[in-house]
Amino acid sequence: MPVISASPAAIDEAAVRLREGRLVAFPTETVYGLGAHALDADAVSQIYALKGRPAFNPLIVHVADVEGARQLTQWNERAQRLAEAFWPGPLTLVLPRKPGVPDAVTAGLSTVAVRVPAHPLALELLQKARIPVAAPSANRSTQISPTRAAHVVKSLGEQVWVLDGGECKVGLESTVLDLSGARAAILRPGALGARELEPFIGPLAHADEVKGEAPRSSPGQMERHYAPRARVRLFSNLADAHFHAVLLGQGLKIGVLAFAPTEIDSHEIILPDDPARYGAGLYGALHQLEDAGVGLILIEDVPDSPNWDAVRDRLKRAAFEG
Ligand code: TXA
Ligand code: MG
Repeated sequence: MPVISASPAAIDEAAVRLREGRLVAFPTETVYGLGAHALDADAVSQIYALKGRPAFNPLIVHVADVEGARQLTQWNERAQRLAEAFWPGPLTLVLPRKPGVPDAVTAGLSTVAVRVPAHPLALELLQKARIPVAAPSANRSTQISPTRAAHVVKSLGEQVWVLDGGECKVGLESTVLDLSGARAAILRPGALGARELEPFIGPLAHADEVKGEAPRSSPGQMERHYAPRARVRLFSNLADAHFHAVLLGQGLKIGVLAFAPTEIDSHEIILPDDPARYGAGLYGALHQLEDAGVGLILIEDVPDSPNWDAVRDRLKRAAFEG
């Protein structure tokens, strides 16, 4: 029975498992995470093995509060202001690390990524475990991130321990913000964007400006990521969509994600015209299409405005063909 409904006894047991160096998948407000004791290099290495994750891709460490983050990082004034404003929440801060954080967590970088998740179950687990918990999204590397317990089992198999917390509310991974340099930079867009963050710490640098500065780039941002097994194409108008369906869809079941019905013969899912609600539904919709056995997914382009950045980033990666 890999999926555990989250009773107080189950959370106690999960906390013990983590302390003993074993893996536990748990819900956060963004996506489900696959957790391990962050200060136990052997425990952390099990994450990489189970996910098939490349060793150069560092992990986010989840802590119960700011005190937990201070023990791992060289905390600073900007981090303090952001933490007061947004933690617990979908914001990951990259800071210089303190000695004692294993290389297995940071992939050898001089920085470490930390966040306090805004999910009652995750917080209770972290409080009971009394250790920092390294956790990437609980899926095989490059597959679609899980927003339900069943998605975790589908991707990682029956032997994983999953605390069931229902559906994740945010549905897209946290914003990763680098605070290790003179100017902060978003390394991975998420629900919180520059507009929300800048009032607290001033203008951000563009991610492009810091690309290539080794510790400041986000090594995990592989181009093809968040990818379903089906081929994905973005379309900007109905004529385009019908064209792709005819050209690429031959003999395949087609899936469509759109803002309004397309009349393409397909398994079609309509998503809301609002970035937060769209983000909350996107991975669930992709999982649904994958489960329906589609071989081609046509996705309507989203608006070009900054509040769609996180969604647009995930769609581009899903559609990327190297
Ligand atoms: O919402 C989330 O962030 C979820 C939940 C479980 O918290 N976690 C998540 O983890 O998305 P993961 O491993 O799938 O993505 C972690 C991202 C990667 O892009 C990685 O490169 C970046 O954070 N990252 C981690 N440590 C870093 C560091 N020291 N410097 C730069 N980027 C880092
Ligand atoms: Mg991931």
